[in-house]
This record gives sequence, structure tokens and C-alpha cells, in this order.
Amino acid sequence: MQLTITQSKQLKTKPDPEKLGFGTLFTDHMFSMDYNPDEGWHHPRIEPYAPFTMDPSTMVLHYGQGVFEGLKAYRTADGHIQLFRPQANFKRMNYSCQKLCIPAFDEALALDALKQLLRHEKEWVPNAPGTSLYIRPTIVATDPYLGVRASHTYRFFIILSPVGAYYPEGFNPIKIMVTREHVRAVRGGLGDTKTLGNYAASLLAGEMAHQAGYTQVLWLDGVEQKFVEEVGSMNILFVIDNTLVTPMLNGSILPGITRDSALALGRLWKMPVSERKISIDEVFEAHRAGMLTEIFGSGTAAVISPVGTLKYEEQVITVGQGQAGPVAQKLFDAIMDIQYGKAEDPMGWVEPVM
Ligand code: COI
Repeated sequence: MQLTITQSKQLKTKPDPEKLGFGTLFTDHMFSMDYNPDEGWHHPRIEPYAPFTMDPSTMVLHYGQGVFEGLKAYRTADGHIQLFRPQANFKRMNYSCQKLCIPAFDEALALDALKQLLRHEKEWVPNAPGTSLYIRPTIVATDPYLGVRASHTYRFFIILSPVGAYYPEGFNPIKIMVTREHVRAVRGGLGDTKTLGNYAASLLAGEMAHQAGYTQVLWLDGVEQKFVEEVGSMNILFVIDNTLVTPMLNGSILPGITRDSALALGRLWKMPVSERKISIDEVFEAHRAGMLTEIFGSGTAAVISPVGTLKYEEQVITVGQGQAGPVAQKLFDAIMDIQYGKAEDPMGWVEPVM
């Protein structure tokens, strides 16, 4: 398939790389392609970043049939641009598509299109420490129709956003709060897919957590409300008795790529690693016994994010004296060093762009 390029007539002013937040600025161009049953995925193109025109009856606006991904492009010290495990993102996106009845796309074509888009937007990959170009591939259902069924037409687009840290706290520990009032997902549902509704489902509890002075919600399983699942914008990991412990993938937790990378590095370093069910009571018991030394989240946007305070009902605990612990720090440094080309890439995770 031939990818066409339409150049934007007016280029935006690039932001100060030292002052980047998360997800507010977008580059000059985007990638798009369309799907219909006759042509399949077709008309791949790089075009000016611009608002869409959508019929008010467009299906994604009513029934949320859409999926997305999050990954980043990094600038290395010698000016190259590289991606981190992009194949895993497109693979997971196709898994999400299958769960949402969206036709699969060609992962190699998507990666090639992304690389071409990045080469086109190379000036937008920031070079200040800890900054990157966040990449948001998305697919939405585009039939103008109000009946409930899978759409027959779709649009796939990739937008790019220069970013700094996801949390205002940066690498400083955040405060998270367990909710028992709400659940994010249940097994057999869509919890393990990157779909729009999962994030909508997290908002009310997130608002309540903010009002109580917490950054994020820690979700428990949707059935017994007993076992730890994830934070919503990241997976969750614990260091208990010197073992790196994280909830096993059970169908309702997002299979995070940074999660997988952290576990792989832990294993590479010969650290005991355990993916298993972990109850919230066990976390608090481990804290009481002095065994819980660290909690941190992992995610593309968040990278590795230490948790300093955890609240569950009336109990509030401080983990690691509210400081980032050694395992979080080591993983953060190792992952960032691979992503920015400062260290060897022992697992072959880096994908060069230019
Ligand atoms: C990511 O880490 O890339 C995510 O998609 C999480 C969030 C920003 C929605």
C-alpha cells in the first residue's frame, strides 16, 4: 500500500522542551487510514493534524467502539530517534480490536507508517532529560448509525504529543487510594484491552480520590473486591520480602508493556519475581510485618512511578519512608537508559527510527 503525504501549510511553533507537561500539545502532522468492508484498511496517509468532521450519529460517540495505544519515541544523546517495543503495542492493539469487533490491521504496515510519520515530525522529538514524543494510535468506529452492532467502517489515526512527566510529582512518590465503592473491570469484560470505556469507568473514583488528596485509584478485582488489580493508568508492583510481586494477568488487568519489561529485567538481574494473586490484606499485613519495602506503578506514560502512601478504608500506610525505593530506582534508570540509548539493550527492545 502506498502511503501519501500531504504537507501542512502552516507549521506550529515548537514548545520549550524544559516546560512540557503531558498530552496538551500536538505536532503538525498525523497518520490516518480508513476501513470499509470492500477495500479493507486503505488510503494510508500522512496529513496535517486537524480536527475531524463527524456525523453526530457516528457510532464511537454513542457506543464507545474504539481502541488505542500509548508508546513513545525517544531522542538519544547523539540525536537518533528510537522506539521501545512498538511491535508489542501494535500486537496488543490488534488484541483490543478483536475484543471490540474491529477488523485487524497489518502490524508491520502500522509500524512502518509510524516510523515514516516520526521521520516527518523528527523536529518534534524533544531532547530535554526525561522528555519524549508520546504516540497515540487510535481506531474509532465511524458508521453514522444508532443501532447497536459493530460498525462497518473505521478510522485509524496516530497523533503525536511532545511530553514531560505524566504525573506532576515526576519521579517523586505519589499517593494512591484503594476504592471498594467502584470496580474498573471484571473478568470476561474489557479490562485487559485498551478501550475507551475502561478510562471512562475510572473517572468518578479518580475524582473522589483527588478530592481526598490522592493522585490515583488502586483497583481491586471486580468480583470479591479482595485482590489488587491495577491503577488504571499503570500496573502495580510491590517488593515484599525482597521479591518483586505483581498481580498475575487474569483477563481484567491490562497486560502492560512496561510491566512486562520490569519483570523481565527483574528476572535478568536474578531477583525473585512473582506474578500471582495478591490480596489487599496481604499488602497491609506485609507492611505490618516490615516486609513491604516498595510499591510502584509501571506504564508507558508513567514509566516507573513510586507510591509513597497507600490508603485502604481507614488504614493509611507510608511505604519506604515516602521515598522512591532502590528497586523502583534501578528499574526506572535501566528502562530509561535503554529507551534513551544510554545503555546496552540486552533484550532487543529498541527499534531504531532514524
Ligand atoms: C500509557 O501509559 O500510555 C497510557 O495509555 C496510560 C494513560 C495515559 C491512559
